[in-house]
Parts: sequence; C-alpha cells; structure tokens
Amino acid sequence: MRRLAVVVVVALCIVLARANADDDREAAGKAGFMTLYRVLQSPRCRNCHPAGEAPLQFDDGRPHAMNITRRSERNGVACATCHRDKNGTRPGQPPGAPNWKLPPADMPMVFEGRSPRQLCEQLKDPAQTKGRDIPALIEHVAKDELVGWGWAPGVGRTPVPIPRDQVTAAMKTWSGAGAPCPE
Ligand code: HEC
Ligand code: HEC
Repeated sequence: MRRLAVVVVVALCIVLARANADDDREAAGKAGFMTLYRVLQSPRCRNCHPAGEAPLQFDDGRPHAMNITRRSERNGVACATCHRDKNGTRPGQPPGAPNWKLPPADMPMVFEGRSPRQLCEQLKDPAQTKGRDIPALIEHVAKDELVGWGWAPGVGRTPVPIPRDQVTAAMKTWSGAGAPCPE
C-alpha cells in the first residue's frame, strides 16, 4: 500500500515537472516573439512596412515626402531613382541598400499598427508571407540586405535597438517552442 502511494506521488511529480517545463518553454517562446515584435515596430523596419499607401519616414513615421506611394513605381518613379545601393553620406540624403522598395501591393506585409497577436498570426500565415515558413522568415531577418540596413541606417537615423544576432536567437527560441502567439 505504502509502496503504491510512493509510486503515485513520484509519477505525479514527473507529470507536474513536465507541465512546468512546457509552460516555461511557451513563456520563453512568447518572450522571443516580443523581442522580434519590438524590432518590427522600430522606425527603421516599420517605415517600409506601412499600413497605408505611402512609405513612412523619420522616427515619428510621417508619410514620405514628395507624394511617394505604392503607385509611384507603376507611374515610372522608381524608388531607386533616389535610393541607391548605399546610404547618402550627408544628413537628409536618401538612405540606400540594394533593391530598395516596398513589399508588393497585393501582399503588403503590414507591420504598422498590428498588435503582437495580429502580427504573430500574420507571420505564420503563408498566404500573407509569400509562402515563407518560419525557418525562411528567420533566414530573411538574419541575411536579407534590406533588413540589414536597419542596423546601419546612415547619418541622423536611429538604428534598430537590438543586435541582429540577438533578434535571430530570439526568433529561434520562438520557433523552437512551436511559435506561440501572445494573447
Ligand atoms: C526599404 C524598405 C524595407 C526596409 C527598410 C525593411 N523592409 Fe522588410 N521587407 C521589404 C520588402 C520589399 C519585403 C518583401 C521581400 C520579398 O518578399 O521578397 C520585406 C519583407 C520582410 C519580411 C518578410 C515578411 C513576410 O511576411 O514574409 C520581414 C520579416 C521583414 N521584411 C523584416 C524587416 C525588418 C526586421 C526590418 C528592419 C530591420 C525591415 N524588414 C526593413 C522592405 C523593407
Ligand atoms: C525623389 C527622391 C525619392 C524617391 C523617388 C523615393 N524616396 Fe524615399 N527618401 C528620399 C529622401 C531624400 C529620404 C530621406 C529623408 C531624410 O531622412 O531626411 C527618403 C527616406 C525614405 C525612407 C525613410 C527611412 C527611415 O527610416 O528614415 C523610406 C522608408 C523611403 N524613403 C522609402 C522609399 C520607397 C519605398 C520609395 C519608392 C516607392 C521611395 N522612398 C522613393 C527620397 C526619395
């Protein structure tokens, strides 16, 4: 009888410990997502992922000057007319990185104004990410040159607040926990 009680108690402890470890993993995963969220909402990233028609500029995210919008390229004013492969060297000159443009109009990949939960669900929906799965998203954040510009945005602009390798590490923690979304 007593032996049975011991076995039951031990089994219960194991189950509880497992449940605890799962909770910890999920909490760490959500915290990892929140690190990514802070980056995606930082001005250098948000400004090219606007909710409206125009790219945004400066830290306060006002609409781009000179009536530049998603329609500009179609109307023959390419972003690359002004935005070259490298940053201008003086304040007020256009920032630059290879292939400077907005996400496609039919798949705008909006970050601006999205809550953590909304953006998390969006990034997990292949219909809104051009079919990128989570490993591909991590690869994009780790390697893409436009993304990389956010850490070296040129004179007068605040870089992304968290080092790039910490951001990809946080994304891996999120992914490893099954990519849980915050409430
Ligand atoms: C100059 C504009 C520009 C800037 C600045 C920019 N992006 Fe993007 N971003 C794009 C474009 C264009 C795409 C779509 C590329 C594609 O699908 O091939 C994109 C796609 C993405 C995606 C994929 C989203 C999805 O749903 O698949 C992520 C993640 C991303 N960017 C993160 C960032 C981060 C992080 C920063 C800041 C460090 C940033 N971007 C800054 C233009 C920009
Ligand atoms: C006529 C020239 C011109 C064209 C065309 C142009 N831009 Fe710009 N853009 C600028 C200048 C100049 C700045 C820098 C403003 C400053 O920082 O003082 C700028 C800044 C930006 C910024 C702000 C970066 C930041 O985070 O501060 C983004 C984003 C941007 N442009 C995106 C685009 C996109 C996308 C296109 C094409 C649809 C485009 N621009 C077309 C001149 C242009």
